[in-house]
Amino acid sequence: MAETIVYDPLDPAVLTDPYPLYAELREQTPVFWNERMQSWVATRYDDCREVLRNHQTFARDRRRVNIDVPEFAQNLQSLDPPQHAPLRSLLMNAFRAQDLDAAAHRTHDKILGLFQDLSDLDEFDWIHEVAAPVALNLTAELFGVVEPELKYYAALADAITRRMDAGLDATVIEPGDEARKQLNTLADGWFAENSGRPGLMTTIKQLMDGATVPEHYIGNSIAAIFNASYGTVFAAAGNAVLTLLQHRGTLDRFRDRGVVDTGVEELIRFDGPAQGTSRIAAERTVLGGQVIEAGQPVITLLAAANRDPAQFERPDELVLDRSPNRHLGFGWGPHACLGATFGHVAIKEIVLCLLEAPSLRLTGTPVRRRTATVRSMDLLPVSFRK
Ligand code: HEM
Repeated sequence: MAETIVYDPLDPAVLTDPYPLYAELREQTPVFWNERMQSWVATRYDDCREVLRNHQTFARDRRRVNIDVPEFAQNLQSLDPPQHAPLRSLLMNAFRAQDLDAAAHRTHDKILGLFQDLSDLDEFDWIHEVAAPVALNLTAELFGVVEPELKYYAALADAITRRMDAGLDATVIEPGDEARKQLNTLADGWFAENSGRPGLMTTIKQLMDGATVPEHYIGNSIAAIFNASYGTVFAAAGNAVLTLLQHRGTLDRFRDRGVVDTGVEELIRFDGPAQGTSRIAAERTVLGGQVIEAGQPVITLLAAANRDPAQFERPDELVLDRSPNRHLGFGWGPHACLGATFGHVAIKEIVLCLLEAPSLRLTGTPVRRRTATVRSMDLLPVSFRK
């Protein structure tokens, strides 16, 4: 079906609140062809989940439809089963070996330290003063590497995030690829370092001995995971806190420890950072009644699926004890988020620290970042002072 409702994810009104548009699309053109992006777009929960689940029909690895993937871009996220499986399992084992409780404690202390420094200010920007340093610190500690300089790293991450919107703006490709190469070089340095510090790097090296996975897949994946962690935690930390600030009384409800974990998942469902992800049809197929030809891309709008009333009761309400909550905010299927537990911990610790702090309030107008694939913010002015 051709597009009948205009879908422009970078329209300022859509950046502010995409959910009314998602509802219209879900109802009226659940799977549609977007001319500008030269891609199908799926908006309903069942269709999105099917695309993510069915890796035989919907490929991540573009080489399966004869599109070249340069070596620097070959990593966990660009492969499909069966090549994906041994790499994923090695990395999954490395994640399982990390101390989640210690990560939670470190993150908690880091956040409280930042809050202390910011407590007397009449106004500060949550995004640059909290979300970015917390995301980078959690990620570097998880990897067991020296934290890169925040300004330098944030610029790399921003270019890589914008690269995800190449279908909307081709000018982001070159700077994004350059940033990806710089990140790979950074990761190669960590790889060569042999610091012996506890963390993912050391564990991965141990697990690599005897593994049959090509080394560049591992090196590139380390870079990709580092950025998947920083980029999403940074974005989620902004979105989640804005949601809490816009829903009066919600933060206080987290004092009931019984809803903390479900509440964090609900914050991700309600306004998560991953608005969409894409696959490419490896064969002719039908999705939501539309014929998809082999070689055509399909964008799954995860954020639209996460508000689908066919899957979620009261989808536009923040229901902290929602259970079950099978949202797609961490993806689904073989490429589902490898670091979901760490992402969950980061948001949970932010919420718990906010409960220990004087009440946070909005002091100005939040500014959304002009990106479509990842939903995040450029500015969130707040204060702990009355
Ligand atoms: C709140 C935070 C996070 C959110 C919302 C999130 C979301 C997602 C989503 C939606 C996907 C699936 C993408 C797709 O199917 O194309 C994904 C994949 C992934 N995420 Fe996360 N993520 C978060 C945190 C993290 C963290 C902390 C790490 C690492 C420490 C991480 C590492 C990864 C990796 C490596 C993949 C790719 C897995 C694969 O392709 O097999 N993520 N994430």
